[in-house]
Order: sequence, then structure tokens, then C-alpha cells
Amino acid sequence: MDLADIGVTGLATMGRNLARNLARHGYAVAVHNRTHSRTQQLVKEFGGEGTFVPSEDLAGFVASLKRPRRAIIMVKAGAGTDAVIDQLAALMEPGDMIVDGGNAHYADTRRREAALRERGLHFVGTGISGGEEGALLGPSIMPGGSAESWEALGPILQDISAKVDGVPCCVHVGPDGAGHFVKMVHNGIEYSDMQLIAESYDLLRQALGVTPSELAGVFREWNKGDLDSYLIEITAEVLEQVDAETGRPFVDIVVDQAEQKGTGRWTVQSALDLGVPVTGIAEATFARALSGHPEQRAAAASLAGPDLSGVDGRELVEDVRQALYASKIVAYAQGFDQMAAASREYGWDLDLGAMATIWRGGCIIRAKFLDRIRAAYDADPHLPTLLADPTFAGALAAAQESWRRVVTTAVRIGVPTPGFSSALAYYDGLRRDRLPASLVQGLRDYFGAHTYRRVDKEGAFHVDWSGDRAERPA
Ligand SMILES: NC(=O)c1ccc[n+]([C@@H]2O[C@H](COP(=O)([O-])OP(=O)(O)OC[C@H]3O[C@@H](n4cnc5c(N)ncnc54)[C@H](OP(=O)(O)O)[C@@H]3O)[C@@H](O)[C@H]2O)c1
Repeated sequence: MDLADIGVTGLATMGRNLARNLARHGYAVAVHNRTHSRTQQLVKEFGGEGTFVPSEDLAGFVASLKRPRRAIIMVKAGAGTDAVIDQLAALMEPGDMIVDGGNAHYADTRRREAALRERGLHFVGTGISGGEEGALLGPSIMPGGSAESWEALGPILQDISAKVDGVPCCVHVGPDGAGHFVKMVHNGIEYSDMQLIAESYDLLRQALGVTPSELAGVFREWNKGDLDSYLIEITAEVLEQVDAETGRPFVDIVVDQAEQKGTGRWTVQSALDLGVPVTGIAEATFARALSGHPEQRAAAASLAGPDLSGVDGRELVEDVRQALYASKIVAYAQGFDQMAAASREYGWDLDLGAMATIWRGGCIIRAKFLDRIRAAYDADPHLPTLLADPTFAGALAAAQESWRRVVTTAVRIGVPTPGFSSALAYYDGLRRDRLPASLVQGLRDYFGAHTYRRVDKEGAFHVDWSGDRAERPA
């Protein structure tokens, strides 16, 4: 029997399409699924697309792989992943590679990588973005793991990834959990992008009284400029959709409670640990949470609100476009800060410009905008914040008047825009010469003797607040 170049175990939507993508690129692919009928179905339906080597059990699957073995796991994230890793590891030999392409938490990936390294196995936690279609036609791929595993896996993963201007949307992100961390932040940014789009839609619809299909035209127009991206493109499609059964706009027949699988929450939790203010992602995650409390919303429905009248519609569309772009710059700047902080914390040595490069195609947040982020890091790899890049600083300066008008209009007419507002507060906070954090430090010293530093000399100090109120070195 000819041995397979690479294997995929877990043949639900993602695994099946990834296996087909590999086969279409000429690799002989070992395939396995816990429930064998899925494997049979794949070979029956798509066997003509390339070489598949099916196995009924994991032992057969491992035996059908060339050495060093390369096995990709695409099973439900969580306990299932641990179970499959344990079974595979028991069958593998030193030098073999186990790739987890599921949405694992990066801390789990770090733990699994360390455990398998002890046994001489490579564990490669890999972010894969692009959903079902991306897996088949070319996803954005974010592999972590050792440099040695990248040598054996990199060419295959780059081959099957999306390409933009001929450049693969796949690089070796960094060791252990780096790939899954970057995928997590990608998803967090995706939350933020969608929230800002939703706020734009909501504010324009409420303020101007226009229909979703009219707004589809606005988004289509926006997609020709700075905002050109997959999410803006599909927003126009969704807004234009009409429900066949009722003839109503599709957005009006969908229950307005946004769900989440948890990557937004993970991003915010990690940001809290790292001390990075990812306010855009946090607001997006909380906005979903707010939408998911119908009992509270019903109880609050009769609370007083302002009069909706008195909006000047002429400027609002362009103002919202500017606010969306400026807030998006802030959200990405925060996400990139989080990756930089994790890179320092875990010693990953992340190349931030390369992260922007591999998100240009295949994934959900793909956008022209990412070229500008890459250019910013090309110009200065140690940029303290993307907001300081001259191109982005210029865009923010050009947008800020519109941005302020949008936030004040939203506040005045009572339309919640937590994404726009918090992004503007972040922008205003970061650019301030002095922040009221000095008062916070004073209060902390007063009640808890937490000490403070002075602007004019080194060292830590404490005031004897309950005594003579004199300052003493701490
Ligand atoms: N769907 C997406 O757009 C997307 C995008 C990026 C990443 N991902 C990630 O990719 C992975 C696969 O996603 P998916 O949507 O294709 O599948 P899924 O619905 O998350 O998982 C179903 C697959 O997992 C297997 N499985 C579950 N528990 C198992 C266990 N204990 N032992 C062995 N196999 C087990 C199932 O086998 P049986 O057939 O035997 O039940 C089936 O093959 C997930 O981690 C997901 O988060 C998904």
C-alpha cells in the first residue's frame, strides 16, 4: 500500500474540506473519523478529487502515514481533542507531528505541546480561519509549534492556504501556543469589526428611517473605498436579503440575540491578564451578552429615552463611514497590542507585520486595510501603537470630527454605539498629555498606602494621610 503524505482525523465540515483541499493539491491524504460512515461518505462523494487513504480505526490511520508522520486533528475542541491526542500519541513515534487545527484555547495548546515534547513528538496548534469554504478553497493558516515541525509542515500548509498577490496566507507564527493565540485575537477582532458594522447599520436606520435594502447600497458603496473588506461586502448581501415567507427584510425576522462560541470572551480574558485595553473587542463581546438577556430587555423596554427627531441626514452617512473606519483602526491597534504583549510574555518573537499579511486572504477579517497595517510594521517593526503610524494618524485626524459628531448624535437620540464611543474614548485617552490616573494613584495611596511615583524624581513615595500629611520615601 502507498503511504499517505499527511492525514486528517475528524471529518465533519472543516476536516472533510481540509482533506479535500489537500487531495486537490496532489497530496495523498489519510482520512479517519470516529464514526466511520463519515469517512466512507467522503471517499464516496469526493474520492475522484485526489488520493484518499481511508482507515476505520486510528491504528490503521497512523500506519497509513509516511514517516515522520503528519496528522491533523479536526475534531470538536475540548475534551474530544485531548482524547484524540492521547490515542494518536500512543501510536506515534518520536519525530512525528500532531497538528490540532481546531479552535483550541492557546493555554491548552501550550500544555499539550509541552507534554508531547517530553515524549519526542511535535505538537502544532494551528489556527485555521475561513470557515467551511476557506478550508476547501484556501484558508488563512496560523501554525504554532517547533521550527523543526514547520520545516516538514510549512510547505504543505502554505500550498493549501489562500494566496494574495501570490503570497501564501500562512507563516510559522511562533512556538507552542502562538498560532492558537493569534487565531483567538483574529476572532476577537472579527467580533469588533461586526459590532462596528452593526452600530453603523443601526444608527443610520434609526436616525434616517431608511430601509435595510437602501443601507445595502450604502455598504456596497463603502466597500469601494478604505473599508473594502469581506465583512462589509457580505453586510450588503445580508441587508438586501428579503424573507421569502413574509416579504419582510431578512434582518427583521432574525431573533436579535447574538450568539458566541467563546473566542471573543477568551480574547478579553487574556487581555485582562496581559493588561492590554482591548476595549473594542470587550464592548463587542458585552454587546452580544446584552442582546442575549430578553427578560432584562423586556423589563427595561419602557424606560425613558430621548426624542428621535432632529437629525441632519445629509452628513450622517459620511460621518458614520468615517467613524467606522476610525473605530476599526483603534480595534486593530488594540488587537495588535495584545499580540505584542503576549509575544513578550511568552517569548514568541511574533512578527506583527506577518500576522497582517496572513490575514489578507482566506479569513473572515480579510481586507485591503491589512496591507496598510503591514506597511506600518514594515516601516517600523517596533511601533508602540498603530495609531502612531503616520498613515493611520492622518486617517484618524481626518475622521475625528465626524467620529465625534456620530457619537454625540447617537447619545442624543439614544442609539447605543458602545464600539464607536469606547474607541473614541481610547483615542482621546491615549493622546492625552496627563491622565486622571494621577488622582487614582493618590486615592490608592490614601486608603491603602499603595505608594506613588513622582513626575520630578525617582523612587516610590507615601503620604502619611492620617497623620501629619507629609510625604516620605516608601
Ligand atoms: N466550522 C467552522 O467554521 C470552523 C472554523 C475554524 C475552526 N473550526 C474548528 O475546527 C474543528 C472542527 O470543526 P467542525 O465544525 O468541522 O466540527 P465539530 O462539529 O466541531 O466537531 C465534529 C467532529 O468532531 C468529532 N469528535 C467529537 N468528539 C470526538 C471525540 N471524543 N473523539 C473523536 N472524535 C470526536 C466528530 O466525530 P463523529 O463524526 O464521530 O461525531 C466530528 O468529526 C473545531 O475545533 C472547530 O472549532 C471550525
